[in-house]
Amino acid sequence: MSIDSSIPGEREGPPGAVLPRDKELVLKVIPMPADCNANGDIFGGWVMAQVDLAGSVIPARYAKGRMATVAVNQFIFKQPVRVGDILSFYSELTRIGHTSITVKVEVYAERFSSQGQYIKVTEASVTYVAIDDAGHPRPVPPRE
Ligand SMILES: CC(C)(COP(=O)(O)OP(=O)(O)OC[C@H]1O[C@@H](n2cnc3c(N)ncnc32)[C@H](O)[C@@H]1OP(=O)(O)O)[C@@H](O)C(=O)NCCC(=O)NCCS
Repeated sequence: MSIDSSIPGEREGPPGAVLPRDKELVLKVIPMPADCNANGDIFGGWVMAQVDLAGSVIPARYAKGRMATVAVNQFIFKQPVRVGDILSFYSELTRIGHTSITVKVEVYAERFSSQGQYIKVTEASVTYVAIDDAGHPRPVPPRE
């Protein structure tokens, strides 16, 4: 399949591949047969859980303590994920609020039989809130 490689801020890899240059690689994982849905593709809920984990990496640096996912603002499954794909999760900070931090996460798959060629399978926007010991929102600490 072909992927639009004209997106600003992204770099081309091998033929057909596009990886973001302006985002951070925060997770790599390979789905297993136990993660499949009834079609034999990977269950969307499993992908969402991985995105939630991957998305929390950058906010954790800002929250410096407990935080919780408050909102999935957008979630797009562009292509199916399959058993054995190597998934790469790239993330970037999109907003810091008073108590919340929002990131964009993009997921790229290297198919089991096509290592080194990347397909964007998912993108999402997720918001996390810094919380105190009682579970209430607390201000994001100022950056040093
Ligand atoms: C996260 C939680 C503590 C926030 O408490 P709250 O009383 O709703 O907090 P507030 O209304 O003061 O909002 C806190 C921040 O979240 C943001 N927020 C709240 N709802 C939001 C939404 N739907 N989308 C985006 N941001 C949202 C607010 O804008 C605010 O950000 P800011 O301070 O940077 O402006 C509370 O909602 C909670 O405990 N939710 C459950 C969390 C959880 O269990 N997550 C896992 C789900 S499986």
